[in-house]
Parts: sequence; C-alpha cells; structure tokens
Amino acid sequence: MVKLTFHGHSCWDIESSSHRLLIDPFLTGNELADVGPDAFDRLDAVLITHGHGDHIGDGVEIAKKTGAQVVSNYEIANYFQAKGCESHPLHIGGGADFPFGRVKLTIAHHGSTGPEGEALGNPAGLALTIDGKRIYHAGDTGLFLDMRLIAEMNGPFDVALLPIGDNFTMGIDDAAKAAEFIDAKVTIPMHFNTFPYIEVDANEFVEKVRHGGRKAVLVDPGAAYELT
Ligand code: NI
Ligand code: MN
Repeated sequence: MVKLTFHGHSCWDIESSSHRLLIDPFLTGNELADVGPDAFDRLDAVLITHGHGDHIGDGVEIAKKTGAQVVSNYEIANYFQAKGCESHPLHIGGGADFPFGRVKLTIAHHGSTGPEGEALGNPAGLALTIDGKRIYHAGDTGLFLDMRLIAEMNGPFDVALLPIGDNFTMGIDDAAKAAEFIDAKVTIPMHFNTFPYIEVDANEFVEKVRHGGRKAVLVDPGAAYELT
C-alpha cells in the first residue's frame, strides 16, 4: 500500500511500507498547510518540481533535519547542495532508481526562478514508481498534449496530482482535459485556494472529470488517499 497525505498547495507526503518522501514542502507561510516543517523526522527524500518559493518552501530546513536526499533538476540540486543538503540531480526526460523507487522528471510549462531570483533551470513534473504504484505529480504547468506521451511511457498511472488553480497553472477546464490525457485511475486536484489569485471551486473540477467518465477525488489538507 502507498499512502499519499496532502499538506496543502502542491505538498504531498508519500509513504510506502518502507520509505517516506515529501514533494514540494511549502508549509511555512501557507495558511492551508496542516503541519509545519518540524512535523518530519524521518524522510528518505524531498522532491522539488521547480524553484518557486511555494514549491521549494521549507525544503532546506526539512532536508537538513531529516537527512533526506533532495531530488530535483540539476540547478535545484546544486542550490540545495550549496546550502548543505545532500542531493541527486536529474533533468527532464531522465530518471533514476533510488532505494525508495524511481523518479523521472517530465516537462512542465512554467518558470523556475528561486526564492531570491536565482536561475533554477526548467520546471518539471514527476513520474514516480513507488512499490509498484505509478504516480504523476504535474508540478506547476499549463496544459500540453504531451501529457498523453507521459502517460504512455510512464503509466498507466494509479494517480494524477494536477494543479487546477488557474492564473499560474491550468485552470479547471484545462486540468479536466489533462485528466483525460493522463487517464489515471484517480485524479486529485492541487494548487488552488492557497492565495487569492488561485481561488477556484475544486468541486467543479471533480464533477467535470467525473462527467468525463473518470474518477476524481478531493483530498483536504491533512487527509490521505491510499493506493491499494
Ligand atoms: Ni510555480
Ligand atoms: Mn506554484
């Protein structure tokens, strides 16, 4: 069983029988987060999709405290390394096998400057295989047709985690089309309601995906979804 706990925005805490990873740990400054950075003491890896502050978040503090390896693009891996964290660099289209599973970086159409304006490479999505479960975390992105290719080459996905908040990423209509392209067993929305710019009705997204004949569920911060 693989358990995905949502901590708000794009932050997912993924636990398998033997390992635990955290994606995009934006907790400090996120009023919707159910936990703070001190909630973690054992983590195998921290995965970062791109350089924006709402994704790097508390990553440095958490990686240092837990000893977790930071897995991200080359520029972000170097950024963490320079701050005293252990990291593994990947780049788009490339993947690597880790003790906890496989991580591959996929394209995302977005930006990736760091919290202080550093140039942190290209933004990415994540195609993960953990204990045989296939997980797609789209990062921040607009809709693109190659999501079909990502699913064909890295899926079939057990779950797709998609941004739906509009303004900086796909909005509801585009994200519903993305859910169709990816065709995961279940689609879960993220990256909405954290700031005024990205306030949307996530139930509308869930209804749209269901209307298209696919499963979608809303997972609140602090709640979890289990892949069985
Ligand atoms: Ni972003
Ligand atoms: Mn973002």
